[in-house]
Amino acid sequence: MPVKTIEFADNIVRIIDQTLLPAEFHYITISNVDDMADAIRKLKIRGAPAIGIAGAYGIVLAALSFKGNDPSDLKHIIVQAADLLKSTRPTAVNLFWAIDRMLKILSSGQNNSAQKITDALLKEAETILEEDRERCRRLGRNGAELLPSVSTVITHCNAGALATADYGTALGVVYAAVEAGKKIMVFSDETRPLLQGSRITAAELVKEGIPVTVICDSAAGFVMANNKIDAVIVGADRIAANGDTANKIGTYGLAVLAEKHKIPFYVAAPLSTFDFSLKSGSDIPIEERSKNEICFGFGTQTCPDGADVYNPAFDVTPAEFVTAFITEYGVFRQPYKETLEELRIIGDNYW
Ligand code: MRU
Repeated sequence: MPVKTIEFADNIVRIIDQTLLPAEFHYITISNVDDMADAIRKLKIRGAPAIGIAGAYGIVLAALSFKGNDPSDLKHIIVQAADLLKSTRPTAVNLFWAIDRMLKILSSGQNNSAQKITDALLKEAETILEEDRERCRRLGRNGAELLPSVSTVITHCNAGALATADYGTALGVVYAAVEAGKKIMVFSDETRPLLQGSRITAAELVKEGIPVTVICDSAAGFVMANNKIDAVIVGADRIAANGDTANKIGTYGLAVLAEKHKIPFYVAAPLSTFDFSLKSGSDIPIEERSKNEICFGFGTQTCPDGADVYNPAFDVTPAEFVTAFITEYGVFRQPYKETLEELRIIGDNYW
């Protein structure tokens, strides 16, 4: 059974500190919104759906810290908390989607007491978490059907249990295929500079007893040329209306390699990762992170003082490289202008 990434009990949130993996599997407790914002910014919790859930619970913590009675004072605190949480990471739309869902609670019960609003916020955060669990499993089953009964896949970064409530998107497909009796072997790109592929994806797969081989990101082309790779499956942080997809830096290169080697390139993502307000990938904000992640990654200086360093955390894969989107509502193929429009309508009717 995959691990729980985030839990709430006794007015406290518990998360696994993912910066310590795989050496240490250590839970930390978070009791206020400032610490939640810090945890998201520092990638103690990470992965698009997981930071959405964390953002929702960050709002709950802000509400719980309110000691007054006036609902309008509480609303003011919640709006400030929402701004803080939204400022942590710009690319994954799930964070904004989840916080906006929480903010809708403020306008739904206009005359409610502060206590009722807090109760409703907690209920909404729990719903967001439970929906993610259920949606990832549906998504996983839809994707599992695309894989031959014996398959080797390449994945990038971590789109597993630890990037969601507890099951994963890209790895959810792998888990569902294994549950369906298929034999799956995974090549996991190590994913420079923060190594989510080797530190987190490989750790998850080892724990689940699924064969995994870690490769340097730069080995992917060689592996595609020399091994029988059945599919590349990655997650996503934000998908524009035309199918252009932001995901961890290096995904675009992997997609181009997959095209060259005629390997299907699948993006596994729930509806909450689609941003239909953006026409194309050029509108997606790309997070740039500290140069120290590259120059002092895990304690050792690896580039000289004086060198310029550029550290975009995500890139955008043009839709033309995506063979299909695997979602909880099924598998969507080209032409994305039409098929993703169907998905948009599903979203409009649901939320
Ligand atoms: O910087 P991270 O570790 O939050 O980046 C995570 C990714 O890029 C994942 O592939 C993406 O969020 C999908 S998670 C289901």
